[in-house]
Amino acid sequence: MKLVVGTRNAHKIAELTEILTPALGALDLVPAQGEAPEEDATTFYENALIKARAAFADSGHPTIADDSGIEVRALGGQPGVRSARYAASGLDEDNTALLLKNLEGVEDRQAEFVCAAAYVTARGEYVIERRWEGTIAHAPSGGGGFGYDPIFLPEGSAVSAAEMSPAEKNSVSHRGQAFLALAELIATLPTE
Ligand code: IMP
Repeated sequence: MKLVVGTRNAHKIAELTEILTPALGALDLVPAQGEAPEEDATTFYENALIKARAAFADSGHPTIADDSGIEVRALGGQPGVRSARYAASGLDEDNTALLLKNLEGVEDRQAEFVCAAAYVTARGEYVIERRWEGTIAHAPSGGGGFGYDPIFLPEGSAVSAAEMSPAEKNSVSHRGQAFLALAELIATLPTE
């Protein structure tokens, strides 16, 4: 099955291949070619649709896309939809460092990753959202994953998300859960 993916993030494409293949069989995930659309909505749901619609309009092919980020309770849900651009540079290390700085001396470390997964075809639009709860560590640990993984301690886990194997992370993560549910939905739809 061929799906266009509305992202230019190579880490995400690798994660999506691992997540979707068991549910959908052999997959050809093709990164979107056109210019990246502006993700200017205030919800993960809307931003995922913006990306999937743009890639579908560009390719004319069934498209998946996601929008994701981390919501920190003590910061009123920030960085939220701005997670990728929390620090001015947008670099993972800078985003992580800024989040740790903003939580200095804060006891409530509760946080959750959120992922909205969208599927857009000529037949319709579908979006599924899932969350992954945990806490923010006091310092980074682990070299795997991306983004905020080194400072995210998943609930019930002794290690950070960056210390989990890709398979372990995908089996419990916001993106793993959202795309597994989306894949199960896609599998019930007529092929185009
Ligand atoms: P998006 O590409 O607009 O969805 O941006 C998502 C941003 O949220 C990423 O750049 C990361 O900073 C953060 N993020 C989302 N999912 C994860 C994850 O699984 N691990 C670590 N950071 C994540």
